[in-house]
Amino acid sequence: MKRLLHPEVALGRPVRSRRADRLTDSVEDLRKRWEQEKAESEMLVEELRKVRAGVDQVWQRSPSEFAPIAQVTFDGKAKIEQTNAEAAALLGIPPDTLRNMPFSALVCAQDLSIFLEHLRNCRNSHSRKIVSELRVQTAARVPLPVQLVSVPLHQETGSVFQTALLDVTDRQRAEIIARGERANAEKIVQTIPLPLLLLDHTLRIRKVNRAFCEIFHATASIAEGRMLAQLEDVRWKSSGLFGRLREALVNGSAIVHFQVHCEVSTRRDPLVLMLQAKRLERPDHSASDLLLVFEDITRSEQARQEREHLMRQLQTARDDLEKRIQERTAELVAANARLQALSRRLVDAQETERRRIACELHDEVGQNLTALKLFLNSQVRSLPVEFSGAFHETAAALDELLEQVRRMALDLRPHVLDDLGLLAALQWHFKTYQARTKIRIRFTHSAMTEELITPRLKNAVFRITQEALTNVARHARVKEAFVRLRQSSLALQFEVTDTGRGFDPQLVASTVSSGLSNIQERVSVAAGQCSIISAPGRGTKLTVKLPLAPHTTEESGT
Ligand SMILES: Nc1ncnc2c1ncn2[C@@H]1O[C@H](COP(=O)(O)OP(=O)(O)OP(=O)(O)O)[C@@H](O)[C@H]1O
Ligand SMILES: [Mg+2]
Repeated sequence: MKRLLHPEVALGRPVRSRRADRLTDSVEDLRKRWEQEKAESEMLVEELRKVRAGVDQVWQRSPSEFAPIAQVTFDGKAKIEQTNAEAAALLGIPPDTLRNMPFSALVCAQDLSIFLEHLRNCRNSHSRKIVSELRVQTAARVPLPVQLVSVPLHQETGSVFQTALLDVTDRQRAEIIARGERANAEKIVQTIPLPLLLLDHTLRIRKVNRAFCEIFHATASIAEGRMLAQLEDVRWKSSGLFGRLREALVNGSAIVHFQVHCEVSTRRDPLVLMLQAKRLERPDHSASDLLLVFEDITRSEQARQEREHLMRQLQTARDDLEKRIQERTAELVAANARLQALSRRLVDAQETERRRIACELHDEVGQNLTALKLFLNSQVRSLPVEFSGAFHETAAALDELLEQVRRMALDLRPHVLDDLGLLAALQWHFKTYQARTKIRIRFTHSAMTEELITPRLKNAVFRITQEALTNVARHARVKEAFVRLRQSSLALQFEVTDTGRGFDPQLVASTVSSGLSNIQERVSVAAGQCSIISAPGRGTKLTVKLPLAPHTTEESGT
């Protein structure tokens, strides 16, 4: 520092006492220097105070002043001591206005009790965080839902509560939407006609729907919270049900289906239910639940059982019917066999009768006529001449009568069939037929071994051919007919064919006719087969196949 000279020395005046003067100068000098330094230090103190005040202000504003959330600090009487810009912006009130204002003045009247409770909790809390939700009035007069999170700060002057104001408008809106959606989902669940049940992992009932309550005659308030096994008035009859439900809880990916029987004491009939179980994860992954969907299949199950019962009855009836049909068939077979035997006897009797009549005609009538003719011839000479004409007429009539009797006898039973065999008898018949009807018969046949053909079979072939040719003569209006006969090791097959008028076999089948019926009767007696193919204007073909050794054959030698 620059040294200061005594002022009188500096002016060149005489010094009273050099020493005293110097001392006085020093004192004066010091005083001046002290005053100067005092002024300087006061200036420094003032500057320091200002800096300190600035620093204090900055310290006071931080960190809340710059915090990204709205904050206020109020004392035990709710008077706001500090606020930050975020709080001022949120409330729309300048910080200076907010400061010293009671916080309760900001709270909507309806939520004042919530704030007073919050304040009470703050005062009683030492370090605990106090959280409340209420609505505050903003400058725009719009109630704003906020969450207050207060933490006590202990100061020398007493406790203050630093409080964050969190705008929960969006959250509340989201909650309202979520609540609405939950309510909708609940409505849907309740209106679903299938009984639904939500179990927790211990198989305790968390939720039931209306359909569930209806089917089990339960109420939601009683059912919810109970163990499934202890559901009132319900007895589960399916063993292993709970094991399978636990399995479904473990095996979460699959939907498990199974049938369940249960008795509900207030219901008359037991229930049969088809159950689907699916594990559901809770949204927060805290646990798994099990959703059960029931389908009441009692009626369809009853219907199925009834159907099975009916099917069993039907099967029994069918078996009975089958048995009766078999019995009836056996009876019919026996009756048919009896009928065949009867038919055979009838045919045999007919043939025997024909033969007897033929014999009688030949032996009795023929002999007597021959005797009469011989007698007449012996008397011819003794007769007067005028009777000669009458005699010759009588003799001619007698010859005619003898020929008729012979022909009748042959028609009834051609002895040639017995004497010479089937081929000869047929050929004799064709000859007499041609002579009588003027219809030419074209006959072809295979090699015949007649020893293998029984007399009854020969007779059948002869009579059927005779009957068929009679029809040709009566109905076909033709000049020729064809007969073919073939013998194999097992059967005799023959056909009688004409190219004449023909007829509709369907129409004839419905009318009473004896010729074709006789043919069929004879074929049936011989255990053979027969077919008639004919149509109007297209001729007629009768085909007959008779086995050489039918098992029902009962030879009588006719
Ligand atoms: N070869 C044929 N050509 C044309 N029509 C035939 C022939 N054979 C049978 N019919 C028809 O079939 C009918 C039945 O024949 P079926 O021999 O049974 O009786 P019917 O000859 O009329 O009388 P009957 O009892 O005297 O034999 C005949 O009336 C005739 O109309
Ligand atoms: Mg006929």
